[in-house]
Amino acid sequence: MSFPIHRPRRLRRTETFRRLVRETQLSPANFIEPLFVCTGEGVRRPIPAMPGCYQLSVDELVAECRDLPALGISGVILFGLPDAKDPDGAAAADPQGPVATALTALRRAYPSLSLWADVCLCEYTDHGHCGPLATGPDGRVDVDNDRALPRLADAALAYAAAGADVVAPSDMMDGRIGAIRSALDRAGRTDTVIVSYAAKYASGFYGPFREAAGSAPAFGDRRGYQMDPANRLEALREVAFDIEEGADIVMVKPAMAYLDVVHQVKTRFEVPVAAYNVSGEFAMIKAAAANGWIDETRIMLETLFCIRRAGADIILTYFAKAAARALA
Ligand code: PBG
Repeated sequence: MSFPIHRPRRLRRTETFRRLVRETQLSPANFIEPLFVCTGEGVRRPIPAMPGCYQLSVDELVAECRDLPALGISGVILFGLPDAKDPDGAAAADPQGPVATALTALRRAYPSLSLWADVCLCEYTDHGHCGPLATGPDGRVDVDNDRALPRLADAALAYAAAGADVVAPSDMMDGRIGAIRSALDRAGRTDTVIVSYAAKYASGFYGPFREAAGSAPAFGDRRGYQMDPANRLEALREVAFDIEEGADIVMVKPAMAYLDVVHQVKTRFEVPVAAYNVSGEFAMIKAAAANGWIDETRIMLETLFCIRRAGADIILTYFAKAAARALA
């Protein structure tokens, strides 16, 4: 008796079949575009390591978002570049600051766009760490976790009041989801969604972003609060805590080198999962493509499909517009 040869290629022969049996869909509805907003008017400053990305004043930001609804992109996440910084990052909660001003302008211009505000203090502290500093009993200078919490909650409240649908804390302080949730609830903002950067790793892939946001730490690094890239089970603990504290959506960051974590979070928990395709991942593809070493559009779509295949419902990506156009 002869053994039949299995012929999976039958279902790959034509694009029609390939489309028919495709297991993962990629749509602009999955995308959130990160944008950098600064003060002033008519400002459109290119970010060298992120070709096609800019620091934008509010008027330019509104113009930059004009095509998003028609492209079907779900929303944007805003990062602020304040004029002045201090040790505590007080400007993060400024209702007149660039992020709050931008949220109000975008809310008015594009009612259907999902408006996300990143909540962190590193762009607002003069030392570039994600919270105020304190010297511990052992003489070590570190971020004062519990003093950061009310600051983060104040920032989240200011963004919600300015029109944010979503606040997304990226600081990795312990207890910040609970602190933000109860502050929002107390203020009657029960509809504000919290997307927690739950498993955020201490990653070299954030390099271009820190240049874009002017948020590189002046000394030391973020390994005392962001996660060790070697850890996976710890990510599951972080996600569980954040869901318990009131996160509606949990994020894994970065995406490409952390797809095992994305996958496990998706299988283990019953909340929507976001993955952040970060600045260094974007820059690597852009740089290789600029050298003619890879096909940019092809690798962009392959990357985004694979992040979805791993289990991400939502992808934060600097490729949002280019990918939406390529998919149209
Ligand atoms: C702020 C923050 C960072 C990123 C998002 N929010 C930088 C960091 O933690 O140093 C990185 C995003 C990217 O690299 O695209 N804490």
